[in-house]
Amino acid sequence: MTGTDEYVRLGPDFYDNPFPLYASLREERPVVRVVTPQGSHVWLVTRYDDARAALAEPRLHKDNQEFRALMEARYGPSRRGFEDALNAHMLAADPPDHTRLRKLVSKAFTGRAIAAMRPRIEEIASGLLDAMEAGPDRVDLLDTYAFPLPITVICELLGVPTDERDDFRRWSNTLLQSGTADAQGAAARSMAEYLSALVDARRAAPSDDMLGRIVRASEDSDQLSRSEAISMAFLLLVAGHETTVNLIGTGTFALLRHPEQLAALRADPSLVPGAIEEFLRWDGPVHLATVRFAAEPVTIGGVEIPDGEVVLVSLSAANRDPARYSDPDTLDVRRSGASHVAFGHGIHHCLGAPLARLEGEIAFTQLIARFPGLTLDADPNSLSWRPSTLIRGLDSLPVRLR
Ligand code: HEM
Repeated sequence: MTGTDEYVRLGPDFYDNPFPLYASLREERPVVRVVTPQGSHVWLVTRYDDARAALAEPRLHKDNQEFRALMEARYGPSRRGFEDALNAHMLAADPPDHTRLRKLVSKAFTGRAIAAMRPRIEEIASGLLDAMEAGPDRVDLLDTYAFPLPITVICELLGVPTDERDDFRRWSNTLLQSGTADAQGAAARSMAEYLSALVDARRAAPSDDMLGRIVRASEDSDQLSRSEAISMAFLLLVAGHETTVNLIGTGTFALLRHPEQLAALRADPSLVPGAIEEFLRWDGPVHLATVRFAAEPVTIGGVEIPDGEVVLVSLSAANRDPARYSDPDTLDVRRSGASHVAFGHGIHHCLGAPLARLEGEIAFTQLIARFPGLTLDADPNSLSWRPSTLIRGLDSLPVRLR
């Protein structure tokens, strides 16, 4: 490890296994300046207590305009040019805008509202498993199950047709991963056009689904602007599936590599909800997607972060902090009572957490019951992970079903 003032470089191998680096940073330099594989210079926070403090720190802002102005001053004009169209959402806002935007949709995501969706989610999951049963033995589980389940659920919840879900998946992947600025710009434009058309269609034909309600609020300009309506739809669609795909995908991968844990779940399905929490803690879907911006100097873990700096909290590193969990690197579906920060913390704590938990519970319960012979169809070390600092997930998950 280098001197305290120097940047730590996250190399290209960081994505495939970030945990050894997280362990040494947590131990030796828990609040440190790093250069991401994409070349961004940011501060990284890796300890559990520091992570919670940073996530709840009001002087660490989300506001995108300030952030963009800073980035432009530092690196030149924005390379993407899609921020205005898609980024006017709650996850990129500070109070009072954040409060207003979150309140508009929060009723739909309470535990009670989500529990009412159980029968339909069960039906969607079993329909996908029926199709898998009738199909080939070898499949990519992400394509046949982990992706279609959450995208169908969130599209139905919003009231968006599922026909274009494959396009949507492609654009979303391009936006969240490192790629050329041109590819990202094109994906953002396609996404913005698609969502604008949906919003216009709701204007012409009002509806009572969530998108309809969002559009109605945007017609009353005090509540929501047009770009906020489009950005809200964007956030809910992207956050609603990119993450849950990987809860299901990475969780299944974890079980297939730990057969004794899988056997425990098969023997006692009541362990599934606890297992979901352990999957989220052990290797959650959001590892660094917690961008914040220091509007003034902030001290985290005894280290002063100067104003104008970008701060990332590593949820994955915090969730394996030995100061918080015994045997943190061990996957243990019976580990109970240990909360985690996989859904974040503070005012931006995941709005969709009850939905993600329910989808996860249904997805694993049904998958395990339906395919007792499920095995990995690849050398686990040969599988690659998405090159994204936002999302942590496998590129593919080849399995044999029978
Ligand atoms: C925010 C994780 C599923 C909607 C967040 C944040 C995290 C997170 C870590 C906070 C990021 C930050 O503080 O910068 C996850 C994980 C999921 C999941 C691990 C699945 C396992 C969902 C689902 C939805 C959703 C299904 C449904 C629409 C949101 C929204 C926010 C958010 C709207 C922004 C909340 C705010 O800014 O107040 N999520 N999420 N998420 N998530 Fe999730």
